[in-house]
Amino acid sequence: MNPEVRGALAAYLEQRRRLGEPDLVLHGLDRRQALARAAQTPRRIVSADSPAPAAIPADLAQVVGDLDHDQLRDAALACTRCRLSDGRQHVVFADGNPEARVMVVGEAPGAREDATGLPFVGQAGRLLDLMLASVGLSRRESVYICNVLKCRPPGNRDPLPDEIESCAPLLKRQIEVVDPEVLVGVGSFAARWLVGRKGPLGKLRGEVHSYQGVPLVVTYHPAALLRNPSLSRLAWADLQLLCQVIDGADSAA
Ligand code: URA
Repeated sequence: MNPEVRGALAAYLEQRRRLGEPDLVLHGLDRRQALARAAQTPRRIVSADSPAPAAIPADLAQVVGDLDHDQLRDAALACTRCRLSDGRQHVVFADGNPEARVMVVGEAPGAREDATGLPFVGQAGRLLDLMLASVGLSRRESVYICNVLKCRPPGNRDPLPDEIESCAPLLKRQIEVVDPEVLVGVGSFAARWLVGRKGPLGKLRGEVHSYQGVPLVVTYHPAALLRNPSLSRLAWADLQLLCQVIDGADSAA
């Protein structure tokens, strides 16, 4: 059998098993017949003009609802729910400390993140590390970093609504298991998803929101700051707001 087809089928079956489907009935085929059928099935070809619909199991939120952090990461690594799994090198689940008090949510992996499996490791990531360090937060110890999307959109295009919807149960559960004291959304896609409101980032930043009771600060994406350094002053103000929220959480503890 074509190794690519065999790999895709194995990953799919493993994903279903991890998501709680121990009994797989392959439409009356036995294992040998099913594998033979899969070998004849051409791989889905997706063009940017006509994206294939993302397959979103209605019960996904329930299925991941019981997973702990490592089980959730395994489920994400095996995920083939949307078209972005076709072209990825790595699923980019998270970096940092899953016990951290501060959780940073970005948009989606870029080329370097796809190549390494780690979020925010390119030029924008280096700036993010500096921004966090400027308020005394280190990626390794005091922050947990992830993205709205776990797979890279081709050519770094914007995430599509159905891709965000497809990935959302993973991020929701990720926030539940990390249980941060403060959330930071960087860039407009993360900000809108976390705030639950549309609108330009300039209109969402500058105040403390709440995500399911967790204080939330949103700010510009470091890539936007690299393109437009005049936004740095506002980003600095957002970091000061973040410090106030962290200090508030400190004094409440
Ligand atoms: N931009 C993001 O939003 N996330 C990354 O991981 C890298 C770049």
